[in-house]
Amino acid sequence: MPTPTGYSRPQIALHWIVFALIAQQYLLHDAIASAWDRILDGAEVAFNPLVLAHVAGGALVLLLTLWRLGLRRRHGVPAPIEGSGLQHMIAKLTHVGLYALMILMPISGSVAWFGGVEAAAEGHEVLKVALLALIVLHVVGALYHQFVLRDGTLARMRHTGN
Ligand code: HEM
Ligand code: HEM
Repeated sequence: MPTPTGYSRPQIALHWIVFALIAQQYLLHDAIASAWDRILDGAEVAFNPLVLAHVAGGALVLLLTLWRLGLRRRHGVPAPIEGSGLQHMIAKLTHVGLYALMILMPISGSVAWFGGVEAAAEGHEVLKVALLALIVLHVVGALYHQFVLRDGTLARMRHTGN
């Protein structure tokens, strides 16, 4: 994998587009959750644009995440910012976990929704907590770099280093 001096413009754009999509998934989850309850009760589910937004938004997260992983392979990522081995390991594990969950969330949701599999919906609920926990860790880490270490980490996701 090449080692560029910064994230590329598409990598940065995709990071923030996916951030907005995932925020939407959490903020507007009521519609799909109640539609799912109705399905479990055997009731009819009327068309609801917010349900469509969850299904389409989640599918888009999956597609864009695969695109990001492709870019990561071709363009590479900048070398980690200075820090201890432990800090690098935590950052790396967080990123791996985020990528894994950005793939597993849409898959579990789709298996639940399109396949009517209750266990997949339960998995989706567990994974949503894990993803939220990693996002919190990731954002706290980013803010710690920005305001305590002041080492320019956040700037790496704001403008390209090339
Ligand atoms: C990154 C992508 C996704 C995220 C972050 C996400 C997040 C969430 C959240 C926060 C809930 C609310 C759970 C609750 O009320 O406790 C939920 C429910 C649900 N989502 Fe997703 N979702 C994603 C993708 C998808 C996709 C692509 C589908 C379907 C094609 C889907 C189908 C469902 C269903 C059926 C429910 C209701 C069942 C349940 O409450 O577990 N999700 N999702
Ligand atoms: C849904 C929320 C988020 C997700 C899923 C997410 C995901 C990721 C992932 C997977 C990476 C690694 C990119 C790679 O090296 O391939 C990354 C990097 C980064 N993210 Fe996020 N992110 C989110 C929100 C945020 C927020 C809110 C901030 C700022 C406050 C932020 C700041 C950063 C920074 C600065 C990097 C670069 C880290 C480095 O250079 O080592 N992210 N993000």
